[in-house]
Amino acid sequence: MSHVELRILIHGASGRMGRALCRLAPEVAGIAGIVAISRAEPADRGSTPWLPTSALDQAPDSDAMIDFSTPEGFDAALRHCVERRIAFVTGTTGLSASQFAALDAAATRIPVLWAANFSLGVAVLEALVARAAAALPHWDCDLIETHHIHKRDAPSGTALVLGQAVRNARGGEPHYASLRAGDIVGEHTVQFAGQGERLELTHRATSRDIFARGALECALRLAARGPGRRSIGDLLLGTD
Ligand SMILES: NC(=O)c1ccc[n+]([C@@H]2O[C@H](COP(=O)([O-])OP(=O)(O)OC[C@H]3O[C@@H](n4cnc5c(N)ncnc54)[C@H](OP(=O)(O)O)[C@@H]3O)[C@@H](O)[C@H]2O)c1
Repeated sequence: MSHVELRILIHGASGRMGRALCRLAPEVAGIAGIVAISRAEPADRGSTPWLPTSALDQAPDSDAMIDFSTPEGFDAALRHCVERRIAFVTGTTGLSASQFAALDAAATRIPVLWAANFSLGVAVLEALVARAAAALPHWDCDLIETHHIHKRDAPSGTALVLGQAVRNARGGEPHYASLRAGDIVGEHTVQFAGQGERLELTHRATSRDIFARGALECALRLAARGPGRRSIGDLLLGTD
């Protein structure tokens, strides 16, 4: 795929995700420049241009915004994108039902993408799991997820999303197994077991940078689309 050169606003730039986005954006072909936006000036911003959140209306013309902030910061970010008619990619979690409704309303005017997990590999795994589940309706299905010892919730949010894909495709709840060990970033295996054969689909994350890289790739792809709400699968698998 060929990308045009895009200018991207990073909203929430002083946070963990925002700083990763600012660090990785220069490595991504097709991104001409970024502007960091946050209330506090990011300590390690180097030569990245920065605007305080209160001066968002003075942001230079851009093609897309990537927002990893908070539900309190989300509304102004979305409003800016609608006013400027630019693509909006957001990974902010904890949004209310009315904020999701605002996203849907915005999608009638601009391209919009919200995802709880920006791993491109997980998005493709979800689509593959749905196909396998539909094709193998009577096989046992088990979801095995492994994470570092500090992760408290189990099963992981990603495992639940994969389980939903199985339910949607063939009904019935898969079995979940959660392991916590060492510093493992995140591994998910969906196992389908029949009589005398077994199919395993596995994703392994080795770096947390995958979420920032995925969001940057999504911004490139989304900015080339017209208005509408997309998923990562839509952008990667050509379902839209
Ligand atoms: N979808 C995914 O793959 C994924 C992955 C990781 C995280 N997330 C989500 O992304 C969001 C950010 O995560 P993080 O780990 O980077 O959090 P974080 O380190 O706490 O950073 C939050 C950012 O939001 C800004 N912010 C806070 N209140 C704000 C407000 N009222 N208005 C505007 N900006 C505000 C903060 O900057 P200032 O205080 O300087 O404004 C900071 O830049 C969270 O919702 C998190 O759950 C999603």
